[in-house]
Amino acid sequence: MSDTTPTIGSVGVIGAGQMGNGIAHVAAQAGLTAIMIDVNPEALDKARATIAKNMERQVSKGTLEASARDAALARISTGTDMAMLGTCDIVIEAATEREEVKKSIFRSLCPHLKVEAILATNTSSIPITRLAAVTDRPARFIGMHFMNPVPVMKLVEIIRGIATDDATYQAVDALALRMGKTTATSEDFPGFIVNRILMPMINEAVYTLHEGVGDVASIDTGMKLGTNQPMGPLELADFIGLDTCLSIMQVLHEGMGDSKYRPCPLLVKHVEAGWLGRKTGRGFYDYSGEKPRPTR
Ligand code: CAA
Repeated sequence: MSDTTPTIGSVGVIGAGQMGNGIAHVAAQAGLTAIMIDVNPEALDKARATIAKNMERQVSKGTLEASARDAALARISTGTDMAMLGTCDIVIEAATEREEVKKSIFRSLCPHLKVEAILATNTSSIPITRLAAVTDRPARFIGMHFMNPVPVMKLVEIIRGIATDDATYQAVDALALRMGKTTATSEDFPGFIVNRILMPMINEAVYTLHEGVGDVASIDTGMKLGTNQPMGPLELADFIGLDTCLSIMQVLHEGMGDSKYRPCPLLVKHVEAGWLGRKTGRGFYDYSGEKPRPTR
């Protein structure tokens, strides 16, 4: 960090979903003040309960002291009013992955922020430069892409928009390290690094299924045991959400104009059927029973 790098003591999080609650969790555990905002008060209650449950698991495993858990939980406040974020050094947006939703949040949020506050987005595929352009601070705007589940996954992918300045990059890199993460830095191109590589692999697994090369169990076992991955690609697709996988493939396909990124028709069919993976109870596996059951 250089002398001009801003230090971050308080983090705002927009969105109390899976990613937002994970970000608030790791921020509070790192000793930062965390303020989580969502339009839906019930989502905030659910997020608080999830954080408490995940921290409890850490306590019972002996990786977190009960007193540190209590202190971390006390550092998290929640609310529905964006004005609460006026004191934050950085706000990390983790709302729905829809460009218009994110842009509208940034337009409403900017007037509440401190002039020097950094604005980050957890988008997995929307161009950082395009989101930055609707804010009053493109130089202090950056991508901070956490992986799911946030408390477990070690990586934060940092994406610089074309206008992002060095002080912002340094501050966000230092913040990620403080949150216990390791960073990888990507330029602002479709899918950044992780999804540029991960999603074509998942899409190829779906093609392998679609063409009858192997069934769900063989594809996942093959990749899990054959390449030492914690989950097979189809299991991972269900975990991420098939709608998310499809939308990232569409970003790659449109952004690169290359047919090698064509979403597999079977992936499209699953999304059309509403078989979106774990969250809807069915994807490439059926989750209605005690154990997930392959559907093909
Ligand atoms: N929140 C917090 N902690 C969790 C958790 C959650 N949702 N799920 C699991 N954990 C913790 C457990 O408490 C456990 O902790 P310890 O190591 O301290 O014991 C640890 O994670 C392992 O959990 P389990 O033993 O229950 O289960 P597992 O060994 O099967 O691991 C997993 C579960 C961590 C999810 C593992 O299967 C895994 O790493 N899968 C791959 C996940 C992945 O690739 N994520 C990235 C997706 S891509 C992405 O996010 C980017 C994008 O833009 C799409």
